[in-house]
Amino acid sequence: MTQDHQVIDFLQTRRSVTAKTMAPGTVDPAHLDHILTAGIRVPDHGALKPWRLVVIAGAARRRLDETVILPEFQTANPDAKPEVTAIEQGRMQRADVVIAVLSSPVEHPSINEWEMHLSAGAVCTTLLYAAQSFGYAAQWLTEWYAYNERMLEALGGTPGHDRIAGFIYIGEKIKPPMERTRPDPKMVISRL
Ligand SMILES: Cc1cc2nc3c(=O)[nH]c(=O)nc-3n(C[C@H](O)[C@H](O)[C@H](O)COP(=O)(O)O)c2cc1C
Repeated sequence: MTQDHQVIDFLQTRRSVTAKTMAPGTVDPAHLDHILTAGIRVPDHGALKPWRLVVIAGAARRRLDETVILPEFQTANPDAKPEVTAIEQGRMQRADVVIAVLSSPVEHPSINEWEMHLSAGAVCTTLLYAAQSFGYAAQWLTEWYAYNERMLEALGGTPGHDRIAGFIYIGEKIKPPMERTRPDPKMVISRL
């Protein structure tokens, strides 16, 4: 057994930094490549690769904010206050890079679709942890627009088939995150 505790120490102390409190900063392209490569190295029953990743960076962030998120929000909330609408105008621009993960199940005679969605969740978790391992502020968000058909289509997904598992926001940590309440192991773990 290895004596190197770096990985377990990281897993026991890492913390998400909310998109609301991060600065976009700059994600090093070489780091992003590592994050993406690590993110698709996940448990995946049957090696079906039932997910798609879409990297949203540079001008694409503003384009999605202005052509999808803002108009869709305004259509659904015509009476929203200007300060609320302003938040929608900059959702993607809170981070330097946002990775959208689509769960994209494939037909299979014996592997259940549920397992493909779980694998997409594993992609999200691994991307998040990989980004945090480099010291970036990162958070897994869905927010309302993960359930919006126009957003799904803008990401190349097919409504009724693909689902957005999450958006992994990656930016710069400008203040240390507060620790959140963590589950009491006794409440969620039982032993047989
Ligand atoms: C599928 C999924 C979707 C989430 N969506 C949101 C969200 O829309 N808004 C939010 O405030 N937190 C959301 N979270 C929670 C945060 O990303 C995160 O779990 C929380 O800040 C603590 O993370 P940590 O354990 O990495 O510190 C979501 C988490 C998951 C797993």
